[in-house]
Amino acid sequence: MATTQTRAVPRGGAAVAEPGQAELLRVGMELLHESDPGLAKLLDAEVRAQRDTLAMIASASLADPSVLAAAGSALSNVTAEGYPGARYHPGATAFDQVEELAVARAKRLFGARYANVQPHSCSSANLAVLVALIPPGGTLLGLDLDSGGHLSHGSPASVTGRHYRAVHYGLDATGRIDYAQVAELAAKHRPHVLIAGASAYPRTLDFSRFRAIADSVGAYLVADISHIAGLVAAGRHPSPIDVAHITTTSTYKQLGGPRGGLILSGVEHRSPGPGGRDTLEGLIQRAVFPQTQGTANPAAVAAKARAFALAAQPRFRRTMRRVVSDAAALADELTRLGYRILTGGTDTHMVVVDLRERGLTGLVAERALEECRILANRNRVPGDDQPPMVAGGLRLGTNILAQRGLGPDETRECARLLHAVLDATTPLGATAHSVDPETAVEVRAGVRALCERHPVPAAGPPIS
Ligand SMILES: Cc1ncc(COP(=O)(O)O)c(C=O)c1O
Repeated sequence: MATTQTRAVPRGGAAVAEPGQAELLRVGMELLHESDPGLAKLLDAEVRAQRDTLAMIASASLADPSVLAAAGSALSNVTAEGYPGARYHPGATAFDQVEELAVARAKRLFGARYANVQPHSCSSANLAVLVALIPPGGTLLGLDLDSGGHLSHGSPASVTGRHYRAVHYGLDATGRIDYAQVAELAAKHRPHVLIAGASAYPRTLDFSRFRAIADSVGAYLVADISHIAGLVAAGRHPSPIDVAHITTTSTYKQLGGPRGGLILSGVEHRSPGPGGRDTLEGLIQRAVFPQTQGTANPAAVAAKARAFALAAQPRFRRTMRRVVSDAAALADELTRLGYRILTGGTDTHMVVVDLRERGLTGLVAERALEECRILANRNRVPGDDQPPMVAGGLRLGTNILAQRGLGPDETRECARLLHAVLDATTPLGATAHSVDPETAVEVRAGVRALCERHPVPAAGPPIS
């Protein structure tokens, strides 16, 4: 990779090297190693850990090195409030163009008519949308946290549950969203906003059905596709863009982007907001800045622009196809091995395992797996009596496996490795455990072999 950029060669002279972004990143890494070796060592260790670990975290994906470079760019030094052409600070010429590029790419990727790329996270995006659409003390209807919903959908632990009256729907006996209950609660509570979206729900969301319910009570429909944005962009999950009034997402979970959020709207972007005060897009623009955020993060916006470009490529669409087939294989193999999988399978990247019958808590399973270099996070399951920090289930995802090129057969191998660990784990209460040492050695070797066959781009020498 080139480390300097060159200006045009002056007539009769040599090319004049111009320190560019690549040079800045190179010098930065050198300085970090020289002057802060402790911190540099931690950063390097993380690169190796990611290379040598089977990450099945459902809410994660690998950012391409070019995305990481954009996120670490000199745009970080730009302070800018407001939007392109209407900033409250000078010096945003390049950032204006970067933000316009990110907005244009986001719209193209999702077939949207409006995009706001400034939210620092999906939680901030959701807060901004609720601020725009619900009057103080108004009502929202979202999926219950224990049924797979998210904190920012009105949980009492979140500001969204304290400042609004939050009502929650749940799941039916098969573990799928109970749309009849959604309709019933909507009719009873007449929410200002209905949220369709989940953190731990492995099935297709029926956005049209949600919209019909929202329309029946005059509510705005907000689709939160934080977990499935890659599948939506790649046409592997129905798109809510023209069905919901507003769609929100994280940019890092499945889009291979930086930490951050994104707000989108489709054909109704200019339809009236509550009380006809303004258009939806006008309200959202102001709700992000200045109502809920200050300065933008220009480097993150650049990294989003890069990630959106990559997600528009055929390679990303192939990866998303593999994400889904890997998850189906994972669910199938775990079922064969005797695990109870919520809803009996998956339509997405996600598989949620109920561990309660096996006498293991989610926390014990998570720790035992991490000891053997497999990452999956504990998750509460419907009817769970464990607290959230302990939980009775495990949430798995195949985004990173697919990005590394693991197909369904290798994903089945991952399921068998996971089973080997859990089968060799003795719980010592709800939070402590021991793993049979011989099994741990064997599993770590299996993980290492898989990781070597499917490397993460740009990683260093192996962990010994
Ligand atoms: C459905 C859903 N919405 C929002 C969020 C919050 O995302 P962020 O971490 O970007 O704030 C999450 C994250 O777990 C999520 O699962």
